[in-house]
Amino acid sequence: MLLKDKVALVTGAGVGIGRAIALTCAREGASVVVADFNEVTGAETVALIESQGGRGAFIKADVSNEDAVASMVDFAVATYGGLHVACNSAAVSKGSGPIHEFSKEIFDNTLDMCLTNTWLCQKYEVKHMLANGGGNIVNISSNASLRGQPYNTAYAAAKAGVNLLTKSSAAEYGSKNIRINAVSPGVIRTPGVEKYFEEQPKIAEGLKRAAVMNRIGEPQEIAEAVVFLLSDNASFITGQILSVDGGQSVR
Ligand SMILES: NC(=O)c1ccc[n+]([C@@H]2O[C@H](COP(=O)([O-])OP(=O)(O)OC[C@H]3O[C@@H](n4cnc5c(N)ncnc54)[C@H](O)[C@@H]3O)[C@@H](O)[C@H]2O)c1
Repeated sequence: MLLKDKVALVTGAGVGIGRAIALTCAREGASVVVADFNEVTGAETVALIESQGGRGAFIKADVSNEDAVASMVDFAVATYGGLHVACNSAAVSKGSGPIHEFSKEIFDNTLDMCLTNTWLCQKYEVKHMLANGGGNIVNISSNASLRGQPYNTAYAAAKAGVNLLTKSSAAEYGSKNIRINAVSPGVIRTPGVEKYFEEQPKIAEGLKRAAVMNRIGEPQEIAEAVVFLLSDNASFITGQILSVDGGQSVR
């Protein structure tokens, strides 16, 4: 049990990658705070945790809102007595398109929902961890952050921001016993991605072959990497961006 007796917080844990991370933290012995702005799917994640014999509690929170983030961390402490590890997975991509036709409103919103939210979560997670002897954080980035992404500039820029947020904050808190890393998924089979594949079958074919392993990944494959980084098995790893992508990023 890699996270025995720890308290874990996972944002965006209602579906997809976040849900797999929450379930895997629980499998590894953590009490898990499931945060999402969708209370139906968030409650389902808690039910799944409990059905596998774990401990979980749901909090409805929009993590792009500072007060909600502060309350979310307070909830973890009030419910389970602390906060040892956190994974900031919540993000919403607000569309793609050429820059010269892209609205500033959608650009700003994408930054809010993919980058500023992660910064806010870190702010309150770190505040608690600093006052309580340390902790570990994993942010979820994206391989879209690694190279030029035509027509996906807002999301790509936001996730590139997550990478430097991760490295900079790792440098800031490394001496305070707080490790901060990021996992950068390639193309992963989530409900949103499957819907996109149905809508864009031609693009889907290319994406399915993007990994050198010639397949797309599963949420569980992201979750296993996150839990490793959150655990003491990764005790000398901080400030790293780990691509979990079937080798997509080496091409
Ligand atoms: N699926 C992929 O192929 C892929 C690839 C690269 C990176 N990622 C990243 O992985 C993470 C999870 O992706 P996914 O595909 O599972 O996403 P998803 O859209 O399937 O799920 C995101 C979850 O986060 C919640 N959420 C979003 N914004 C929130 C907010 N402000 N407050 C609270 N909850 C919020 C949603 O309700 C949803 O439950 C994201 O950071 C995404 O950018 C995914």
